[in-house]
Amino acid sequence: MIPESFKQDLLNRVDIVDVVSRYVQLKKGGANFMSLCPFHTEKSPSFTVSPVKQFYHCFGCGQHGNAIGFLMAYAGMGYVEAVKDLAAGTGMTVPEDASRQRPKEQTDREQDLYAVIERAMEFYRAELKKSEPAIAYLKGRGLTGEIAARFRIGYAPDDWQGLKAAFPEYEDKALVDAGLVIAGDGKRYDRFRDRVMFPIFNARGAAIGFGGRVMGEDEPKYLNSPETVLFEKGRELYGLVQAREAMRTSSRVLVVEGYMDVVSLAQFGVGYAVATLGTATTPTHVGKLLRLADEIVFCFDGDAAGRKAAWRALEVSLPLALDQKPLRFLFLPEGDDPDTYVRNHGRDAFEHLAGEAQTLSGFLLGELRAGNDLATPEGRSRFLSVARPHLHKVAAPGLRLQMVKEVAQLARVSQEEAERLLEMRVTSAYARPAPARVQASPPLSPEAQLLRSLLTQPNLAAELDLELFDRNLPEGRAVAALAAHCCQGGWAEPLTEAQLIEAFAGSPHAELLERAQASLLEIEMSPEVAEQEFRQIQLIRRIERKNEEITGLSGAERARRIQELAELKRQRA
Ligand code: CTP
Ligand code: MN
Repeated sequence: MIPESFKQDLLNRVDIVDVVSRYVQLKKGGANFMSLCPFHTEKSPSFTVSPVKQFYHCFGCGQHGNAIGFLMAYAGMGYVEAVKDLAAGTGMTVPEDASRQRPKEQTDREQDLYAVIERAMEFYRAELKKSEPAIAYLKGRGLTGEIAARFRIGYAPDDWQGLKAAFPEYEDKALVDAGLVIAGDGKRYDRFRDRVMFPIFNARGAAIGFGGRVMGEDEPKYLNSPETVLFEKGRELYGLVQAREAMRTSSRVLVVEGYMDVVSLAQFGVGYAVATLGTATTPTHVGKLLRLADEIVFCFDGDAAGRKAAWRALEVSLPLALDQKPLRFLFLPEGDDPDTYVRNHGRDAFEHLAGEAQTLSGFLLGELRAGNDLATPEGRSRFLSVARPHLHKVAAPGLRLQMVKEVAQLARVSQEEAERLLEMRVTSAYARPAPARVQASPPLSPEAQLLRSLLTQPNLAAELDLELFDRNLPEGRAVAALAAHCCQGGWAEPLTEAQLIEAFAGSPHAELLERAQASLLEIEMSPEVAEQEFRQIQLIRRIERKNEEITGLSGAERARRIQELAELKRQRA
């Protein structure tokens, strides 16, 4: 595991503009550099790289990170690989695995989980090269070595403590926290044994978990990592990093159900597939994909279970569908899954089928019609009433109008009658304005303002009076964590925002910090303004506190507090 101080030092020496420029043509625009976003399809540039802050941010799809993060997310490098790549460019040498000699500090643990999983992944990959049965299994399923390498597929040996070979510190709690080792009754053993291993990557390109498949007939067929601090199933999609390039060129993403479906499709030339991880499709999944592609095709097996899963995906998608981005549903012939279909019929046949996938409205109305006899007045009125809640969920105005028209026609009523019956003119609870790029921001809480000024001027942490702030708010907790980190000392001065991204990657505060950093890109706060804002906020809080203290006091005590209050107010003026 790479020492924290080395990473910080490294980030101080590299220039993110150089790093990104190796892959993306940047243009200067004001203080920052801009380009069309390499992570999603767009027509006007919202990808921004800040040379001062040393991070990138896309205002369209939300991709965010420092130089290390860019190499992982864009170039598909692993964490260690990215650090080594950057180090090579600056002439620095990555120190040899320090953790093998000394136990890590407790505080480093969370971030080291990334390194733990990456090391396990490399171990499993090396084991695959040694296991003839595993290689034969993958070959038998039609995969080449190249595709196995692209998806970093590995093999967990048939050994209760196989990971000991990669982790001499097998007792380390981090292995349990990473979901790799199971601890019970004083015994420890590997979760994954004698399985083909599919690593799961997050959008930044870091390995966060695994799916493991048995090679024979054992149960369960697939065993997945448990949810950990790094891995939340409802948020992640298998194959996203590998699919990114193909998604961008085809503007399309295909959502399938299984690991093997994704890998096999890629093997046969359909590179834009991703899979949910043994869970139903979530709104987070759909939201993520809508930002990355212009068209989503959900692909399900043709059996009853497949139709049920498709219906769930439809219900989740109705409020999220956009007028300019069609969502479609592909049902494979019964008995096939994407893996078998593409293997037996090839890429062209598969893509032809995908081209004919049902539209969202087609699928919805088809299902609703199926239960109602539209030849009778009763059937038509029932059809209208079952359609109603679904139409109400649709937020995209154009799509909604078209669907109402379609429903009206099928029910043999006029559009006006349909709208009245369905109460479509009433603003739906789901109605919301189209996502604007620059939204009128609600007033920030003092805690959120503090976060902004601390990010701009980390030195202010030394002056922070934590007692004044509410740690029940996520912003309050982020401020506390940030201040603690900044005050820890020993950092290569000055602490940059790129270093803070690194320090908090994978922590519960990461998302808040990202958002605050993105908003700072737009308002370009100077260190002087940050300092002023910071002092004002603390002062206002002190005045509020003093006021609270005064109520309920009397006599000399009260007089003294009032004098202190006056002093605070003078400072504020
Ligand atoms: N799955 C799981 N646990 C299981 C079975 C399935 O998590 N016990 C998830 C996996 O993500 C798997 C997906 O559901 O990839 C689809 O499962 P299934 O259709 O049973 O498997 P296939 O993808 O067809 O796998 P294979 O082709 O390897 O048999
Ligand atoms: Mn299958």
